[in-house]
Amino acid sequence: MRDGFGREVNYLRVSVTDRCNLRCRYCMPEQGVRPIAHADVLRYEEIERVVRVAARLGFWRVRVTGGEPLVRKGLAGFIARLASIPGIADISLTTNGILLADAAGDLRRAGLRRVNVSLDTLREDRFAWITRRPDFGRAWAGIMAALREGLVPVKVNVVLMAGFNDDEVEDFARLTREYPLWVRFIELMPLGDNGLHGESGYLPVASIWPRLKALGPLEEVPSSPTDGGGPARYFSYRGAPGRLGLITPLSQHFCGGCNRLRLTSDGRLTPCLAGVGEVDVRGPLRAGATDDDLARLIAVAVREKPQEHHMAPGQVACDRQMSRLGG
Ligand code: 5AD
Ligand code: SF4
Repeated sequence: MRDGFGREVNYLRVSVTDRCNLRCRYCMPEQGVRPIAHADVLRYEEIERVVRVAARLGFWRVRVTGGEPLVRKGLAGFIARLASIPGIADISLTTNGILLADAAGDLRRAGLRRVNVSLDTLREDRFAWITRRPDFGRAWAGIMAALREGLVPVKVNVVLMAGFNDDEVEDFARLTREYPLWVRFIELMPLGDNGLHGESGYLPVASIWPRLKALGPLEEVPSSPTDGGGPARYFSYRGAPGRLGLITPLSQHFCGGCNRLRLTSDGRLTPCLAGVGEVDVRGPLRAGATDDDLARLIAVAVREKPQEHHMAPGQVACDRQMSRLGG
């Protein structure tokens, strides 16, 4: 489907829960988000229907997100159902990795292709601070399990935060020489309002570039359509099994190539991460909407995609929590 600005929209990000087993400071307050009432969360069958209709409209990639998707029971079974939908050719998962070591095999067999794991530090004490949980070892074990199970490429998402992990840039970069990991540095976006969003936390990705280059010559790796079609630019050190990715939502936004729509766990289609305007599908689904009705709602959400976002460092763009939007 094309949106009003000629962009081909073919990628659906599905949040299956807003709950999480971590409490990352830039995402959630200590006590967690007020959970969506159980009855308001889309059932797996309901999500599956939306995906089926989206697939008819040309969507072919689906990413399962949260909150933390692995805290929802039955996720592997759900992924198997998605994998059986004609037209859906690429299913991926964004996770914090905590429950991944045990789940990776089942997910793989269910038809999951690949995972992105969020990991902002390689140090146990910092991990405990930023996530408010002492689970670094489990997250790391999850990443290793994903590699072992072939959920590749395994991408590691690192949100760059000045004064928190900016001194770990080299350590993260060196991981790409040791493992076939795609380590991606992401600029901190001012979403939600939970304390970490002053100018102080934000660091343009360009500022770490000289340090990455100081470790050795970097070559740009052209992206291929199977990479996920996302906003990252990739580089690699000579001979390294992994890659470095740079994601610059703020300093150099990539809205011109935006190919996605999001479905929140309570059944709203969101045209833009930072924008306002949502299209409710839960109400219509439960009121007996036909597939054609659902297709029309998806078309409305695609049509409402704005040309670009207006997020800027240190300015809270909107009070929507990442845990609802799924990144
Ligand atoms: N800015 C940038 N990235 C964020 N993420 C969550 N909140 C933010 C934010 N405010 C990241 C998570 C995850 C991905 C889906 O989005 O760390 O890797
Ligand atoms: Fe959980 Fe991800 Fe939010 Fe951290 S960023 S609290 S892992 S949903």
